[in-house]
Amino acid sequence: MRYGHFDDERREYVITRPDTPLPWINYLGSEDYIALLSNTAGGYSFFRDARLRRLIRYRYNNAPLDVGGRFLYVRDDDTGDYWNPGWQPMQRELDAYTCRHGLGYTVIAGSRGGIRAETTYLVPPGQTLEVWRTRVTNDRLTAARVSLFGAVEFCLWDAQDDATNFQRNLSTGEVLVEDGVVYHLTEYRERRDHFAWFACSAPVAGLDTSREAFLGAYRGWDRPLAVERGTLGGSVAHGWQPVGALQVTLALEPGESREVTFTLGYTENPAGHKFDPPGSGRPDTTRARAVIDRYRRAGQVDDDVEELRAAWEERLATLQVASGNPHVDRMVNTWNPYQCMVTFNLSRSASMFESGIGRGMGFRDSNQDLLGFVHMVPERARERILDTAATQLPDGGAYHQYQPLTKRGNDAVGSGFNDDPAWLVVAIAAYLKETGDLSILDEPVQWDNAEGSETPLHDHLRRCISFTLDRLGPHGLPLIGRADWNDCLNLNVFSEHPGDSFQTAPNRPGGVAESVFIAGLFVLAAREAEAVARMRGDEIEATRCRDAAASMTTAIEAHGWDGAWYRRAYDHVGQPVGSAENDEGQIFIEPQGLMAMAGVGLEDGRTRTAIASVRERLATPHGIVVQQPAYATYHLELGEISSYPPGYKENAGVFCHTNPWLMIGEAITGNAEGALDYYLRINPSAREAISDVHRCEPYVYAQMIAGRDAPTHGEAKNSWLTGTAAWNMVAISQWILGIRPEHDGLRVEPVVPASWTGFRATRQFRGTTYDIGVVRASRGDPLTAGSVEVVVDGRPIEGTLIPLPVPGTPRVRIEVVLG
Ligand code: GLC
Ligand code: GLC
Repeated sequence: MRYGHFDDERREYVITRPDTPLPWINYLGSEDYIALLSNTAGGYSFFRDARLRRLIRYRYNNAPLDVGGRFLYVRDDDTGDYWNPGWQPMQRELDAYTCRHGLGYTVIAGSRGGIRAETTYLVPPGQTLEVWRTRVTNDRLTAARVSLFGAVEFCLWDAQDDATNFQRNLSTGEVLVEDGVVYHLTEYRERRDHFAWFACSAPVAGLDTSREAFLGAYRGWDRPLAVERGTLGGSVAHGWQPVGALQVTLALEPGESREVTFTLGYTENPAGHKFDPPGSGRPDTTRARAVIDRYRRAGQVDDDVEELRAAWEERLATLQVASGNPHVDRMVNTWNPYQCMVTFNLSRSASMFESGIGRGMGFRDSNQDLLGFVHMVPERARERILDTAATQLPDGGAYHQYQPLTKRGNDAVGSGFNDDPAWLVVAIAAYLKETGDLSILDEPVQWDNAEGSETPLHDHLRRCISFTLDRLGPHGLPLIGRADWNDCLNLNVFSEHPGDSFQTAPNRPGGVAESVFIAGLFVLAAREAEAVARMRGDEIEATRCRDAAASMTTAIEAHGWDGAWYRRAYDHVGQPVGSAENDEGQIFIEPQGLMAMAGVGLEDGRTRTAIASVRERLATPHGIVVQQPAYATYHLELGEISSYPPGYKENAGVFCHTNPWLMIGEAITGNAEGALDYYLRINPSAREAISDVHRCEPYVYAQMIAGRDAPTHGEAKNSWLTGTAAWNMVAISQWILGIRPEHDGLRVEPVVPASWTGFRATRQFRGTTYDIGVVRASRGDPLTAGSVEVVVDGRPIEGTLIPLPVPGTPRVRIEVVLG
């Protein structure tokens, strides 16, 4: 069952009924001001940091879900009937409803009783505000008198404190009302230099700033007293819950439309401009007013929409494909890169499932996210690499997370996840392959953000490699530390106390738990580092990396192989994890695809065998689960992984992040059918038809789909902010379509199913646009099967790596013939 459809032309997803299984959201804003917006206008907004600078309140875990956010009421002043064009929170039946989620904007339209209201929500590029531009239309044959009410409930900045510290917060709320604008001033009197405001483009007929006055005692947002009455009382909040509620009245002739723009903004005042006049205690609103006035101008919002559209078209032009498979095309051309950008902007901090309170940016997460957007915004990728590397610890290790506001590492969520540093190598390599910008390696970068500690980035890279080599266990495999990519494989923690965090509880001393996964990742990273060292002419480092990769490969061959797949780990006392010897958790997904990427086991055929074992044991129609059999009970020696009920999350859920590794593995071992098959199993668009099972948005990936051991097999959770976005982008674009940046040029080596007759793509790469046409010469001819011939501007080349053209070459034409 579907709740809408794709409008590929406009790059929009159109939701046609408001009661989607879960809130289906969009992200507005890509710089400082971010707004999460659901299909019923729920969600919240913040400036840079979802916890510390929250503008409006949002209550997670609410019933019904997703109440809170942006309240818009239309009232028929002749009859007193009132309703929300976005359906929530009143849920009054609508005669028509659509929500169009586009790239950086959303349009929600609802109508009832001949009155139509269509609102465009967006965060204008470069600004710190959100706009709700509402067009109210009278579709009746008679004149109508209509009131439009816009309202927000302010958060008292720190979202955590706001939800807990009531003894203080019920007394601190302050507002200022001036010229129909509500300024939210809580704590401005003391140390804050910023405030929020809620304004409107039309003359205001009334306003309220006290929640109780607006809603009425014992009422909720689903039946505000002031809206029911049709007039706002002009209340001024003192403490309690400050809100901004504005009323506009409209007299509409038959067929007439009027536009009203509400703006919710954030203003920071520079030092010396806090009060006006200085020292008066009255905030200086000059800067805020300039922005407010700008959005009183008709046409401003249309200009912003155009600017957003143009920016997205430009960004997406880096890679466009026409394959004929709609699920491939719309994900590659629009939604997957869009999700990659959102994931980049937000890391894991704020979604409908991440409250924005708990998490900073993950070290390994940020490095992997980069793989999905580096081709679109290389300069921001560069900055991200330097920021992340500056949090690295002097021993080469990493804090598991860092705070976006301060860019400093924090160990509030633990440290000692021994895979972390290797991901930095992978990210740097991806940046270099995309851009060829070797100068980044010479950038001075701090250690643990300590002033004066700077050494060049290539030194960070070197220490990433040393970090693993300094921590080898009895089998010569890397020690796992607290966990590796699988945060929940806590082989050294032994937690017995309810509520203990697996991330921070002390490790039991003396552990020698080793990770076969990190071993594979290390080989991958060491090979990348070797190539980088070679480009820099550092033969000593190149040799060190090559030898390290070789001896790690030997250790994997000796102790990582289980017979039909790679083992996952060795536990605290040296027993195998992910082995046929185990009763549960015999085979894990993570190492199997990764070995192919690292080039391990390709010659002796082990990796092919491992990948076949995955297909046999772990693949389900809804994707590939993490391991089998699921852990039925809690295992002290394994940690959080066994804390989840079977089939969920790391305990045998389909952890979508890992699935692309198998797609890549299938592609590397030449199984084109297998690679695309896995790709389509978790592709959100391909799952649109089962939206009632999948439940999350059909336009973005979710972190997890419940595995076959779960009663809810096929149900997705935790959409949007997941490494799945980046890895799927890599798998489909670089390994299946085969358009892959390398240090010496662009490789074009598609691994697509025999049923594909060809495809076209354009890829911008280091200043040149590659027009790529792929055709299949002969179907199913065993003699030429698998061959790839590449012709560059009419001249056949040897192999599939297209040499870099003369700098400044605008276009290159590539024809590829698949045997
Ligand atoms: C979450 C974490 C990521 C981890 C994964 C598997 O997605 O953000 O860092 O690798 O879970 O545990
Ligand atoms: C990762 C995992 C999640 C776990 C969390 C904290 O995000 O995906 O399952 O609960 O880390 O350990």
